[in-house]
Amino acid sequence: MDSESTAIPNDQAVVAAKKPLLIQVDAQKYYYWCSCGRSKKQPFCDGSHKGTDFQPLVWQAPKDEKILFCTCKQSKNPPFCDGSHNQLDAEYGKSDDPQSVVSDADVELVEFAVLNEHYLRAALDNGCYVIRPRVPDDTKQPISREATIAKSLGSVHLDQYEIRLNEGQSPVWQVDGSDVVLFVMAGFGEVVIAGRATPIEPHCGVFIKAGESFQIVQHEALLINATVCPSDANWQELAAHHDRFDTSISPRVQGVDPEQQQAMADRFFQVLVDDSTQGSETTLFIGHVPQSRAAHHRHLYEETISVLSGQGFMWTDRTKAEIRPGDTIYLPAQQSHSVECCNADGLFLVGAFYPSMSPAINY
Ligand code: FES
Repeated sequence: MDSESTAIPNDQAVVAAKKPLLIQVDAQKYYYWCSCGRSKKQPFCDGSHKGTDFQPLVWQAPKDEKILFCTCKQSKNPPFCDGSHNQLDAEYGKSDDPQSVVSDADVELVEFAVLNEHYLRAALDNGCYVIRPRVPDDTKQPISREATIAKSLGSVHLDQYEIRLNEGQSPVWQVDGSDVVLFVMAGFGEVVIAGRATPIEPHCGVFIKAGESFQIVQHEALLINATVCPSDANWQELAAHHDRFDTSISPRVQGVDPEQQQAMADRFFQVLVDDSTQGSETTLFIGHVPQSRAAHHRHLYEETISVLSGQGFMWTDRTKAEIRPGDTIYLPAQQSHSVECCNADGLFLVGAFYPSMSPAINY
């Protein structure tokens, strides 16, 4: 606990730490979360709130699971971390990961090697990798759909495809049992979901619920990332759209909107698709990383990150790889990492991850 805590008034919580604690809880058991920040047994109560205005928050675990408990006591959703601890430092991720003990001198720079006819790959620690198109797409095939994230490449819950549409329209697809989240990397056109057409433009996100028919129509050469969750789903080609469409989900297409950007220390992000808005199990967001290298940190979610602009390095425990526009990173859940940006105007990225939560939640 903070040594200045004795000087903190009784009606103010103490910042016990600036990162949450990941704790295994047992179904039906009651937990007494420390709300005052004075307990020596974080994140739980040890009675130190006596004489203050605080009481422990009683929470019953609904199931056996790992929970990230807030220790900064700033969360708007206690006892859980909601990412508010990021606002306590001027720079994102300034508080270091005590489990990352490797010095920079011991970190290996991994070169890209040929993965298949379409991609190069740099394989980092614990199944993390960076994938890069081998050559610019000058073949101008009418349509292609290539996997960049897949079970066969080591993912658990997520698949991702790069869809290129240089002319005309795609087949009418249907993916049973898995939601499909699209992100337009470049180009203009329309997405047609169960016969309903909506314009699409660069950097918009699209949500398609499992089992809905959808089609992409090209007006100007389109490059689209399609994230599919759960992975390993079967893409069917239909003769025509059917009318199964969930009218309760809105919006289906969300573009960049500066008013929806959320600050996270010196970074910002905008969520395009998530569970709270569309009921999606996958969160899709665009984010900006300033010229910086955050301390290593982890997320509970499994993630894919594509670089839209800027360059730098993807760091894991003992390895790192160069990243640049067009690269896609596969980041396994709970992998210690840092995305470094090396250019003055920062790095824009798009991330998609499962399970859905705020991109600000890290530990
Ligand atoms: S530790 Fe408090 S919000 Fe994350």
